[in-house]
Amino acid sequence: MPAIVIVGAQWGDEGKGKIVDIYTEHADMVVRFGGGPNAGHTLVVGDDKLVVRLVPSGILRKDTTCVLAQGMVIDPTSLVTELDELERRGIVTKGRLLVSDRAHVILPYHVLVDGLREKGKGAIGTTKRGVGPCYEDKVARRGVQLGAFRDPAKLREHVARALEAWAPTVKHLGAELPSADDVLAAIEPTRARILPMLVDSQALVERAVREKKKVVLEGAQGTLLDVDHGTYPFVTSSSPTAGGACVGAGVGPTRIDEVVGLVKAYTTRVGGGPFPTELHDDVGERIRKIGAEFGSVTGRPRRTGWLDLPALRYAVRVNGLDALAITKLDVLTGLDEVKVCVAYDTPSGRTRDLPMDELEHAKPVYESLPGWKEELGSARAMTDLPRAARSYLDLVEKEAEVPFILVSTGPRREETIVLRDPFRP
Ligand code: GDP
Ligand code: IMO
Ligand code: MG
Repeated sequence: MPAIVIVGAQWGDEGKGKIVDIYTEHADMVVRFGGGPNAGHTLVVGDDKLVVRLVPSGILRKDTTCVLAQGMVIDPTSLVTELDELERRGIVTKGRLLVSDRAHVILPYHVLVDGLREKGKGAIGTTKRGVGPCYEDKVARRGVQLGAFRDPAKLREHVARALEAWAPTVKHLGAELPSADDVLAAIEPTRARILPMLVDSQALVERAVREKKKVVLEGAQGTLLDVDHGTYPFVTSSSPTAGGACVGAGVGPTRIDEVVGLVKAYTTRVGGGPFPTELHDDVGERIRKIGAEFGSVTGRPRRTGWLDLPALRYAVRVNGLDALAITKLDVLTGLDEVKVCVAYDTPSGRTRDLPMDELEHAKPVYESLPGWKEELGSARAMTDLPRAARSYLDLVEKEAEVPFILVSTGPRREETIVLRDPFRP
């Protein structure tokens, strides 16, 4: 199995960091293909916790090459801060962390615009990291690619071109744009650090795949945040679905061997937008507390709710999922009953599909299952799980029509039941 894609099947924060870290134990390369510092992927090893934003979650595996591909948007200051943090922890990045020279650069005016818009009535609850405005520049064909760092005159020209385009928007938002000099001065200290890491990542990744190296394409965000397939307009500005992996990394779909979806045993969402199975009661609060459901980038409390099977089936189809990994099953321990949404009642009738056009008016139809009291973190095989937890997993697997290959029962590496590793058939 040389090339696998790992994507979030919900609204992000499914535990991609933990699972990618586990599956990169035997991988040669791990590639982030989209998004930027809006992501926060948590890695827990022993008592140590590390949150990576731009850097792939394979960074802890010293023999794994980590690549930031051209589908990403990269804030150079965030990247350097992350490099410093990794170095402080003794993690070597030199020579094994490579960055596409065609990835787009998040610049101070992107962050400014993102923040200003979030103060207005069109706010959607972004991470305010400038991700949306940077992708806007990219599709408007006036973005700045990291390769421009090699040529200061070109860099200045591209920054000036973008500033000119943003001027009316920023004026309308009642603020002032920084000058090109200010923008260039802000990024100058990062240039020397980033230049040696720049590569043609498409050629690198495609060659690795062709040579049958073990490559993980690591998703950020989640299916329902996809700009085409998510709960638009409450989405991010990239394509976190499996197709986005091919576009963002530059690998043809025929070269992908397996697509794995990650799903939490319940649902969370940060920011605005529809969330039909959201809980506004003590159970929702309990899940937030026990699951430590606070944004790893912004610290915002995550909204919590029951698992949504119509949404999961949607993710299975949109991504063509071959397998599922389920995380945070332990968080449901101690509940008397566990509910799961199996269908929706909508103004046009009952449906087992996610009624994307009617989500605001859709009423979840729940099935209730008995809860369990046993601690799950020490389970290493399915037979170690209490019967009620297994019944819950059986229902999810049957309804999703995709097999589980991993069950996660805690944030640590060892708190995992690995049923199959795609790299160790
Ligand atoms: P990502 O963005 O998909 O990588 O997920 P985040 O790192 O933002 O959020 C997932 C959180 O859940 C992190 O704090 C993880 O350490 C934690 N986590 C991952 N898997 C499990 C699990 O099975 N059980 C528990 N209790 N926590 C988990
Ligand atoms: P990971 O990779 C959860 C959400 C934001 C907001 C919307 C748009 O850690 O799973 P943006 O800043 O991207 O323009 O915000 O998308 N969002 C995430 N939610 N996890 C993420 O990443 C997210 N990245 C963006 O909260 O609702
Ligand atoms: Mg996250």
